[in-house]
Amino acid sequence: YNEEIYEIKRFEDKLKDYENKYKKWRIFSSFFFSSSDIFIFATSAIAIIYSLYLVYKKEITEGTLVVAYTFINMIVWPLRDTATMLSNLGQAFASADRIKKLFLEEEEDINSGIEAKINGDIEFKNVSFAYQDRKNQYALKNISFSIKKGQTVAILGKTGSGKSTLLLLLTRLFDPSQGHIYLDGIDITKISKRCVRKNIVPVLQDPFLFSKSIKDNIALSNENASDSDIYKATKIADLDKTIEGFEKGFDTPVGEKGVTLSGGQKQRVAIARTVLSKASVMIFDDSLSAVDSKTDLNIRKSLANLDKRTTKIIITSRINSAKSADKIIVLDKGQIEEIGTHEELIKNNGLYEKLDKIQERRQ
Ligand SMILES: Nc1ncnc2c1ncn2[C@@H]1O[C@H](COP(=O)(O)OP(=O)(O)OP(=O)(O)O)[C@@H](O)[C@H]1O
Ligand SMILES: [Mg+2]
Repeated sequence: YNEEIYEIKRFEDKLKDYENKYKKWRIFSSFFFSSSDIFIFATSAIAIIYSLYLVYKKEITEGTLVVAYTFINMIVWPLRDTATMLSNLGQAFASADRIKKLFLEEEEDINSGIEAKINGDIEFKNVSFAYQDRKNQYALKNISFSIKKGQTVAILGKTGSGKSTLLLLLTRLFDPSQGHIYLDGIDITKISKRCVRKNIVPVLQDPFLFSKSIKDNIALSNENASDSDIYKATKIADLDKTIEGFEKGFDTPVGEKGVTLSGGQKQRVAIARTVLSKASVMIFDDSLSAVDSKTDLNIRKSLANLDKRTTKIIITSRINSAKSADKIIVLDKGQIEEIGTHEELIKNNGLYEKLDKIQERRQ
């Protein structure tokens, strides 16, 4: 998301703070450890010498000396163990330091490239793509299609047909192995990743929520959003009533330290987040799979009424969700099987028509 810069910045600030505290702690602890060791050995040595002196003076017996020595050991060794434990803790901190380095090294370059205002025209020209670890098997093969600004386009296909891979290419998580993708006529690889991700905002198939309030999770996509913008977005995602049902409303914490949301509720938080971004292109990857058919219909209706300038790409395996799109692209095994409107594809007697029959029978 376009907020990632902001989040990374905050993460870095926290790390810096942690680094300073860690340094102070190290200085203090090394001082403490050396002085505590000297202290422990010095006291036990003094205690033993003094007891020996008392035995010599016949004030205590040899037996008492043995008992006293045992007692000293019982105190000194646990103290030593505590020191070891603390030093292990220090090592754990050092490991954390290495993990931090790893994080910083892997940061991707999102800044180089053109910054352009994207209207939302998309064109794929002979795009093929294979994942790194499966170089000989194309996840997408020779894909060509175009989408006009403001259109609603459905990408329909069975599981594993390459739908989500298409989304990853459109958000520049990966670039095509062959062929080109154009945004408003500009090759997408020339546009900075930051700019691409600001203008093309997806709802991921498995949305990620942070351990924050519902409101913060939604507002993540647009830091300038007002409360009324946020409310509107939740209404479009059919989430307003659910949130009002929570005791703390929008301030309800979610995730680890808060309420556990259902799959459908999570999907709707993610939809609200994407709607709030006001991006020119929005992609919904299987985003209504976990909600009931009535909610599905409600959300699809309000999405259709969204800003007419917004390009919407709906990824789905359900004919019902694809039906009303201006254009339906049918994917099969990484290739385009057919393209057309619902009526055209039904007449085509191809894969779409077959899926339509199967899915209609199921209802
Ligand atoms: N990160 C990855 N590394 C290697 N192969 C992958 C990766 N992600 C997906 N694939 C493979 O690429 C092909 C297309 O996967 P993709 O996720 O695009 O399918 P999909 O149409 O979104 O399926 P679904 O409807 O189940 O979400 C599949 O064969 C899949 O196994
Ligand atoms: Mg997928």
